[in-house]
Amino acid sequence: MPPLSTSAPGVRQAAFRFRCISCGDLSDTARQDFRCAQCGDLLEITYPRLKEASPGAAKLKANWCQRRLSQSAIDQSGVWRFRNLLPALERDEQAITLREGNTPLYDLPQCARIAGVPRLFAKHQGLNPTGSFKDAGMTVAATFARLAGFRWVACASTGNTSASMAAYAARGGLRSLVLVPEGKISWSKLSQALDYGAVTCQLRTDFDGCLRLLQQLVLRAPVYQLNSINPFRLEGQKTLALELLEQLDWQPPDHIIVPGGNLGNSSAIGKALLEMHDLGLISRLPKLSVIQAEGANALVRTLREAAGKRLISVQAETRATAIRIGNPASWKKAVHVLEATGGACEQVTEVEIAQAKAEIGAEGIGCEPASAVTLAGLKKLVKQGLVKQEESVVLVLTGSPLKDPDFTMDFHRGDLFKGTADEAANAKLNELRRPPIVLDATLDAVIQALKQAEKA
Ligand code: F0G
Repeated sequence: MPPLSTSAPGVRQAAFRFRCISCGDLSDTARQDFRCAQCGDLLEITYPRLKEASPGAAKLKANWCQRRLSQSAIDQSGVWRFRNLLPALERDEQAITLREGNTPLYDLPQCARIAGVPRLFAKHQGLNPTGSFKDAGMTVAATFARLAGFRWVACASTGNTSASMAAYAARGGLRSLVLVPEGKISWSKLSQALDYGAVTCQLRTDFDGCLRLLQQLVLRAPVYQLNSINPFRLEGQKTLALELLEQLDWQPPDHIIVPGGNLGNSSAIGKALLEMHDLGLISRLPKLSVIQAEGANALVRTLREAAGKRLISVQAETRATAIRIGNPASWKKAVHVLEATGGACEQVTEVEIAQAKAEIGAEGIGCEPASAVTLAGLKKLVKQGLVKQEESVVLVLTGSPLKDPDFTMDFHRGDLFKGTADEAANAKLNELRRPPIVLDATLDAVIQALKQAEKA
């Protein structure tokens, strides 16, 4: 079967082009692996007439606000509402949407006190339709997959991408193929892909092995690849930053902190900040910082040991399985946005992640382990003086707490670090633990439990 082109009729007319992030080569079409035909590096989407075509910052803001009142599907999407900064569609009905985006911005007063900053917010992307930030990118990329005439879409995943892709494929009448590392993703994510009808392959390798295979597959079969190498994904994920700034009345926070895995999301948020700045939507750039798990710290090492010039891959290992990635595809894009915004890159331990996750949970919000690296990282950045005591900070919480209930149960039961080198650190977390209490079904027993809790 010959591969299809990713720019079939309907896509080409849109006012965007592909640009190679290394050699700058511009093209109207992209190969199925979304790599530059000249040098093999990643592509990004660029809008040659973005500034000239813009009606001005005030009009854009008013337009986005007005769309909130509309009953049309495309306007109700918190992604497509910002379509002036997305690849253009010919008709609104072409969008495959689950009304993604529109996620809340919460304040985190207790976590702010713990971290030592006056104002701390969480942009909760876990409240998207499939429970993670992936939906914001998937609505755009799945739409363009269908426009390009593909019947099959595919991804390698640590779980959330596959859940999201399977849902959008199903909504759009597409078939989906999922490649996940066997035994290394949470059951809730896996079960979503099954429920949404994906062909789900559990491969005996890690995420990086799955992605390598997928990149070969898309060059051999007419399958559209929906990993964040696909630049349409990142365009959709940009809207997280647009919506965040709108929620802050276009007053930029001092810092935005995001977890780093394959590094697509940090790249997307950074691209959005730079475009917003360019268009006069914001007057200054927030610093964008990326936090990784110590056991999956490829970007941290790349910056520290190779000054961001070449990727240092690692053999990834962390209980925050969403970011268990050792060979991040978008590392160059992430290095660029860190440099452009002046942000930092830090790593946090497994114990720090577990503690931060419980602290976010205790605010009544919760998130999945990978998202909690943001709070753990913030504490470090404050100690290092990289976040000043008076500065405002937004944490990007990428996934719902329901995504990994095994982690949460193990934490509260005290089993999370059993048999690991971190077992000794366990005691430090006792205060945050709320294990379930098994009692006889009597009033006395329950009253006793209440009294006990009151004392603690
Ligand atoms: N947080 C969560 C909950 C994730 O699922 C991921 C990535 C990240 C953070 C990291 O984002 O890769 O853009 O740097 N999950 C991917 C997946 C890789 O397959 O679901 P990133």
